[in-house]
Parts: sequence; structure tokens; C-alpha cells
Amino acid sequence: MYAATLSTRKEPYARCSPPFKERVEEGSFSLDTERRFHHDKSQMRYIVEPDETPNFDLRNGYSDRYIKRDENVRKNLEHILQWILANKSKLMQRTAASALADFDFVTSRGRLTKVLCTPYEGQTEWSLAVTKFQGVFYINEVETASACQGRQNRTESHEENIYWGYKFEQYICADKIDGTPDSTGVVNSNEAYYSVVRTRLSDHRLLFSGEVDCRDKDPNAPAPPACYVELKTSGEMYTDKQRSKFRRFKLLKWWAQSFLLGVPRIVAGFKNDDGLVVSVRTYRTAEIPQLVQGEYLGWKPEVCMNFCSDFLSFVKRVVIEDDPHVVYLFSRKALSDVTFTVHRNSSYSFLPDWYVTKMS
Ligand code: A3P
Ligand code: MG
Ligand code: MG
Repeated sequence: MYAATLSTRKEPYARCSPPFKERVEEGSFSLDTERRFHHDKSQMRYIVEPDETPNFDLRNGYSDRYIKRDENVRKNLEHILQWILANKSKLMQRTAASALADFDFVTSRGRLTKVLCTPYEGQTEWSLAVTKFQGVFYINEVETASACQGRQNRTESHEENIYWGYKFEQYICADKIDGTPDSTGVVNSNEAYYSVVRTRLSDHRLLFSGEVDCRDKDPNAPAPPACYVELKTSGEMYTDKQRSKFRRFKLLKWWAQSFLLGVPRIVAGFKNDDGLVVSVRTYRTAEIPQLVQGEYLGWKPEVCMNFCSDFLSFVKRVVIEDDPHVVYLFSRKALSDVTFTVHRNSSYSFLPDWYVTKMS
């Protein structure tokens, strides 16, 4: 008999890092101005390295040149499922058994980031819906009631801050390899470029998608995902307390997100309350854990990776029924361990009929 819950404390996971294989890009896709799927690289952008003190005005265009993605439209795992169908015959070449015979899990980087951060984010709640279909575990996310409430009751200044993140990207990215950024254009948060990577964590073979901000424009840069660059904004820091909070919480999220996909570099813009980017700093993803070492109540990457590996083992033990209409819902409530419930033919079911039919 196995435990029906999974501990979210740090202590059980403070052991050597589990093996995590190199991330290998299997393909990519783009979402256009209306968030439609395209099996191409049309949304790939190229970084134009900014000055260290660029003074970008992030407020520019918020009122008149912003098309905001409709966050009420939840796509579940649809985009990676579309990518899988588009690559079915290519995937089958590797193993004749079935397109996904090489994989245990299909998910997105965002869902895994939440898992990685769990032992250090006691207050963060999540619900992950898992369906086993043809031996593969699909991990989707269900928005919690508190997250939904938080999203629908954002302040105007929070909304504008979200725009600032996208505007920073526009100041630094060009659409063409030899192009220049166009900060007079529209910011449309529907548009995105995604990489699909394969890797292995312990004995868990993973296939997941992750949104990529831009790439190094040097044609001799290493192959994806090693040529990709993550862009971030954060508040300018004035006190040691602010710097400590930044290392404990923000660097954890930034590290987890980029490390999972194998993105080696993060370019961060520090902004003041007026939306001016006052400084820019580059972080090497691999070096971020060292910046947190010695921090009182700091975080350890091996705890995150062991928790993720053990969570995936827990999912494999718990999710027995192989049925596209059955969902095992794994929940993490504030300051609690991971628990699960089982749902048949419920509103949690997320594998679309078009996918199930074409894979059967
Ligand atoms: P920041 O750089 O300020 O975080 P990402 O950095 O993951 O590529 O995301 C780009 C921007 O999208 C973020 O900029 C933020 O503005 C917005 N964003 C990211 N995650 C979000 C979320 N969960 N809810 C709302 N906006 C989000
Ligand atoms: Mg992004
Ligand atoms: Mg970013």
C-alpha cells in the first residue's frame, strides 16, 4: 500500500539532484495575432542586445496600442496536442508501436514550473488534472478558485504591469535576424513562439512545450534550446530586504522556468514605478542557484528537482485507469501536501475528441 498524499515539505527532498537529461528540441510552433496555431517558426524573434541603462518607457502604447489575449479562453493542452498530431508520422519513425511510445508524460513547461517551486511556495495553490491515455500521462492545469478570483479582480496598476512585461520584449526583439525592434508597433499578447522539448528526469521521459521570448541572432549560436533567451522585468530594488525577497522568490521562478526548457540566459530589465527601465542585467540560468546560496531561507535546486521527480512517480502510481475520459485531479492547497480525487466524464476531462480519435 502506498501513501495517498505526497509531502510538500523541503526536508524529504534535500538529497542529491536526480538525473535530468539535456533538453532536446523536437520541434516548435507559433500562435498568431488571433492565437491560432501554426506549425512553423513565424513568431520567432531575435534579441537586439539593449544598453545597460536603456530608459525604455514601458507605459508607451498601453492605452492605444495593446491587444490583450483573452484570458478566459483556456486552451488546456490543445496546442501541444496539435503539434503531436502534426508530427505523428515523424514520431512514429522512431518507434513503430505508437507516436508517443517513447514518452511517459506530455505537458507544458508552465505546469512543471509550478511543481518545481512547490516546496518553497507554501501559500501557492494548484490543481493538476492527469489523464492516462495509451500509456501516456497528460498533465493539464485547472485554474483554482482563488487564482480565478485574483485574475478577475486585478487592480488597474497590476493590469498595466502585465503590459509592461510585453512592452519590454518589444523594445528588445526584432522579427527578422537583421531587423531592429519597432517600439511604435502594437503589442499583441496573443502572439507567441513555442519550443517542444524532450528530456528525462530520473526515469520519467517527458515531452513538453514552453513559450520562448527570443533567440540569439548569431548564426553560430548553439542549436535550440541553447540559443534561446528569456526576457523578464522586475521592480528596481533599493533595500537589502527587497534584494533578499527577489533572490528567494523571483529568482526561484525565473530559474525553474528557464532551467526546465534548457534556456541558458535571462535578460532582466529593472523598472521604476513610472515604468522606466533603469537598468538591464543578464543572468546565466546555471549560475542563479549560486546567487541564492547563503541566503537565509534560500532555496536549493535539488529540492525542486527531487520534488518534481517524486511527484511524477506519485502520478504514475496513482493514475491506473487508462481512459481519455477519466481525470485524476492532484491538488495542492496552501500549506498542505498533495492530495488527489478521481473524476469520470466530468468537466475536468480535457483530451479533445479530435485528438483521441486521431491517436486511436
Ligand atoms: P514579466 O517579464 O514582467 O514577468 P514571460 O516572462 O513568462 O515570458 O512572460 C512575459 C510577460 O507576460 C510577463 O512579463 C508578464 O507581464 C506576463 N505574464 C506572464 N505570466 C503571467 C500570468 N500568469 N498572468 C498574467 N500575466 C503574465
Ligand atoms: Mg515569454
Ligand atoms: Mg519572458
